[in-house]
Amino acid sequence: MEVVETSAQLAAKIKDFKASGKTIGFVPTMGALHQGHLSLVKEAGRLCDVVVVSVFVNPTQFNNPDDLDRYPRDIEKDMALLRQTACELLFVPSVNEVYPEPDTRVFDFGSIDKVMEGQFRPGHFIGVAQVVSRLFDIVRPHKAFFGAKDFQQIAVVREMVRQLNMSVQVVDCPIIREEDGLAMSSRNLLLNDEQRKKAPLIARSLFDSCNFALANGVKETRQMVMDAINASNQLEVEYFEIVDGNTLQPVMLWDDSDYIVGCIAVYAGEIRLIDNVVYKNSMS
Ligand code: PAF
Repeated sequence: MEVVETSAQLAAKIKDFKASGKTIGFVPTMGALHQGHLSLVKEAGRLCDVVVVSVFVNPTQFNNPDDLDRYPRDIEKDMALLRQTACELLFVPSVNEVYPEPDTRVFDFGSIDKVMEGQFRPGHFIGVAQVVSRLFDIVRPHKAFFGAKDFQQIAVVREMVRQLNMSVQVVDCPIIREEDGLAMSSRNLLLNDEQRKKAPLIARSLFDSCNFALANGVKETRQMVMDAINASNQLEVEYFEIVDGNTLQPVMLWDDSDYIVGCIAVYAGEIRLIDNVVYKNSMS
């Protein structure tokens, strides 16, 4: 695995790979890597000839400066983990390298980025679109791999790719969970013992709600999940929305769509965790 810090170096290496007919798979990350990230790298290695991973904590997607400050960083550990994978090129740029000039672009993703994360983290998806489009411009991958835990992020990135007419294929990969069900996240490292013990209640409530939903309406199911999680003294639901998986708009009835997903954000103290569950997907 080669570690590259500048866009020019990376672009030159990728040009050579492409000249020899190789396909490029790209896994953008903010580091503090865990098995969820490694599963994306594995899938990229399965579907592409060359895997490029980036580690860059993107300041423009943090609406809360404290969240940016405490975001876990451990590049040595990340490199050690990646050396055991199919990752061939690791891109570790500086802020100046990604943003030689401040990125003032504003995106409009219609209704997709106004709800849920978009509502509670204003500007977050503009920042995600800025960095992902910039990284796509540098890496020019054939395929890019994202984890389904960030369900809304994938919808936003797909819409961005459509609007900017980029040729990259966005591949979504399943959520990877700890043994107790907690969705893997770099932020899990920030949980104290008590919060970590209670955090699996999020996934458990989502899974239980799939059974509950068989005999109950959308409104009741939504309430059941919120009540179950809020009953814990360590957890507080910020939002739980049951939405159409394509438009991300709330549904009222289970018959309203063929693709229905429940998306949740929960605070454990200062730490914000997200997760989701698919109630219905006629395509799968
Ligand atoms: O999902 C993430 O880790 C980040 O939002 C991403 C896609 C790497 C952009 O900074």
